[in-house]
Amino acid sequence: MDGKGDSIIMTHSDGLKNIIVETTELSTIINDNLYYCGYPIEDLLSDGTPFESVIALLWSKSLPTAELRCALNKSLNTHLHLSADTVLALTQGIHQGIDPYSLLISRLACFKAFPVSGGAGFDAETALLAHLSALICALHRLTQHQPILEPIQDRPFHENLLYLLLGRAYTPLHAFHFNRMMILHADLELNASTFAVRINASTQADLVSNLLCGLATLRGPLHGGACERVWNMMTQLMQENSFEEQLQEMLNHHELIMGFGHRIFVRHDPRVSWIKDSLNHLDLTKSDQLRYQRSMEIESFLAHEKGLIPNIDYYSGIVYHSFGVAPDFYPLLFALSRSAGWIAHANEQRSHAHIIHPRAAYTGSFHSRS
Ligand code: ACO
Repeated sequence: MDGKGDSIIMTHSDGLKNIIVETTELSTIINDNLYYCGYPIEDLLSDGTPFESVIALLWSKSLPTAELRCALNKSLNTHLHLSADTVLALTQGIHQGIDPYSLLISRLACFKAFPVSGGAGFDAETALLAHLSALICALHRLTQHQPILEPIQDRPFHENLLYLLLGRAYTPLHAFHFNRMMILHADLELNASTFAVRINASTQADLVSNLLCGLATLRGPLHGGACERVWNMMTQLMQENSFEEQLQEMLNHHELIMGFGHRIFVRHDPRVSWIKDSLNHLDLTKSDQLRYQRSMEIESFLAHEKGLIPNIDYYSGIVYHSFGVAPDFYPLLFALSRSAGWIAHANEQRSHAHIIHPRAAYTGSFHSRS
């Protein structure tokens, strides 16, 4: 069957649920466990792997030697510098009241696309990931009315990110848990934004365009946009005496509770336990501690009432808040980390050399003008 004839067999599933549309060597979920290029994330997290090594793993499908990791780190740090024109454009955008996520998309669209390297140097990929990171950090500084900082060359990339975001001296504990957050968000098989990236890459569009598709898709409230909404929902629920009543009402009205549910993870999202472990070790303020307590009570309530499980977006905001990151930047930090995976998927899809073009079941009517 060539797929063009009348005899084609078509399968339909809402939201492509349980449909396999591509092959990948990058990541997979098996029995609620997540693997990056065959490594269980638990292994990567428990042996202190730096984010830079996970980037290299996703891009080259093998863990880098110390020498390669240093080279990648150096290259990423070099590209963290922003031009004066870019800083001016960001500043003007903020003064015009444009939200940071939209500004990120608009400035990234102006980034001069390198030819895709895909080679050992990963020059195009490195420049793009570092530029996107620099934009996010600069936007955070500007919205906090703080000066933009220059990267420190001999620091690990993930520590530079923390420095460029927050400026103030961060502790090794912060760096450790920030690194963990970056690794946890780096990839997840064929999630919605990664699929969008792959569709775009399948048209042989450039890497910048691929990432723009990922960014635009991730920001949706049912995807990465959920983390900021969890924070806002929780702020409201913290004020309620009876959060149970409020949640029950939401469930009765078939409202979605942000930060709960997942398409692939069934019994639990393994990333949540790691984030909770971070919250158990970080030095939380009284109000973040209360928020964490209330979040856990809500988790128990929703498990009991509807069998819902929390996803990665549920607790991540409290970790970022403990670092001093503003809530509207939680989805941007998600995007920063996930762009490592997006780039890997874009390159892999491009190498498959076929366009993604599925069929739709037509449910309209047919007419005749005669
Ligand atoms: N709140 C209330 N009910 C929920 C929730 C939720 N968050 N999630 C799922 N359900 C219910 C559904 O209503 C459905 O109930 P029903 O069988 O009575 O109709 C049942 O659980 C199954 O859910 P589906 O909608 O089939 O799950 P799907 O795989 O289509 O959607 C999704 C997954 C989009 C994550 C969904 O759970 C959701 O919208 N969650 C809230 C938003 C969110 O947290 N998104 C972040 C996801 S993780 C990420 O993208 C980074």
